[in-house]
Amino acid sequence: MKILITGGAGFIASHITDRYINLGHEVVIIDNMSSGKNENINPKAKIYKIDIKDEQIADILLEEKPDILNHHAAQMDVRVSVNDPKFDASENIIGSLNLYEACVKANVKKIIFASSGGTVYGEQFEFPANEEHPLNPCSPYGISKMVNEKYLFYYKAVYGIDYVALRYGNVYGPRQNPHGEAGVVAIFAERLLAGKEAIINGDGLITRDYIYVNDVVNANEIALNDSVSGIFNVTTGVETNVNEIFRALKSLTFSEQEETHGPAKAGEQRRSVCSPNKLDKFGWEPKMKFDDGVKLTVDYFKSKSNK
Ligand SMILES: NC(=O)c1ccc[n+]([C@@H]2O[C@H](COP(=O)([O-])OP(=O)(O)OC[C@H]3O[C@@H](n4cnc5c(N)ncnc54)[C@H](O)[C@@H]3O)[C@@H](O)[C@H]2O)c1
Repeated sequence: MKILITGGAGFIASHITDRYINLGHEVVIIDNMSSGKNENINPKAKIYKIDIKDEQIADILLEEKPDILNHHAAQMDVRVSVNDPKFDASENIIGSLNLYEACVKANVKKIIFASSGGTVYGEQFEFPANEEHPLNPCSPYGISKMVNEKYLFYYKAVYGIDYVALRYGNVYGPRQNPHGEAGVVAIFAERLLAGKEAIINGDGLITRDYIYVNDVVNANEIALNDSVSGIFNVTTGVETNVNEIFRALKSLTFSEQEETHGPAKAGEQRRSVCSPNKLDKFGWEPKMKFDDGVKLTVDYFKSKSNK
């Protein structure tokens, strides 16, 4: 199959690109390199370094005629979305619409979309949340993910383009950017390996559902099957708090840094954990144990710092 992947120079979608290419698919990447890195780009993929908002996107899709769009390019920082909701909407909603309209013209059959289980449900009523849990996102970023899911429903109803929206937990693993606000595993791993302090915001008891990137890639492989359609959590159902992450990383990095707490970030969701059971019936399950995934992530950052 020919698959067009947006964001393929970034953390998650570069791993998906590698998998699709290993499976024998032809992959074309669209990435504006705002946070993507050249070193992540699979040399067997064709790349267009262009913004998803660009008018030329329609021409590219018409030229390439992909069977599937796998859409991962986004502004992915919740705090950026809170500080600048208009910027977030222009990247994550208008940019997506530019792609979806191009999909209609180019006869794309299916769209796989990177949604967010950590933000679309908002403060949960049930733990873990399944896909039927009410959607009350409390950030512009979460709203943008919810709105994309609604647009995908519209494009399926009106144009017959099938879709899979994968609601990820907090994804971690090799290639994650350790410099942003997101990705506490990457940020703490890099800082502790460099002998720097890793400050925990507030009491550190905020919980998230951490999913290893390879499990996310497995879900993106399963999403290629015609029988897989609709909205699925891609999560573990396990809650981990920030203090636990700090302690695991301190031990793996042999760091002597003390556990240090700074002020809490205002408006941060307290608990997030989502049930992975719906995708189970297609043979997917989160395989990586947190301790093993964190170790692989530390090994990656160690090998990078030795280069
Ligand atoms: N990392 C997580 O924990 C997580 C959780 C849930 C959902 N997601 C979603 O998964 C996707 C990938 O996230 P990631 O963690 O790999 O982030 P990332 O920043 O590493 O990757 C995003 C990629 O998209 C590119 N990009 C951004 N804006 C673009 C634009 N306007 N036009 C073209 N390319 C653009 C960037 O250059 C980058 O290569 C995003 O949609 C994100 O919202 C991530």
